[in-house]
Amino acid sequence: MSEWKDVASILEFKPGTRVLVKTGHFDAIVFNLDGVFYAIEDACTHDGESFADGDLDGKEIICPRHGAQFDIITGKVTVAPALEDIQIFPTRVKDGVVQIKI
Ligand code: FES
Repeated sequence: MSEWKDVASILEFKPGTRVLVKTGHFDAIVFNLDGVFYAIEDACTHDGESFADGDLDGKEIICPRHGAQFDIITGKVTVAPALEDIQIFPTRVKDGVVQIKI
């Protein structure tokens, strides 16, 4: 069963930043991209690397280990060596708090 999990206050979650979320089952990472929030699983489908230190090029996150890239809006792989898309999660803002649906 899915549920909404708090990520951060919208006042503290500034554009261009990211927040790591531990769910107990997996880790996710939420991005504020020009005021819109996008969430992906924080494990590269190539070999499980975290995106915490990956550069964001527009809407594409670059895996810091081998350079695979993923569209954080759709989850699609855009650059190898990863071959599988990454899981994305819905986000919302409720009562001033950014939330992720897990
Ligand atoms: S672990 Fe991400 S590209 Fe290899």
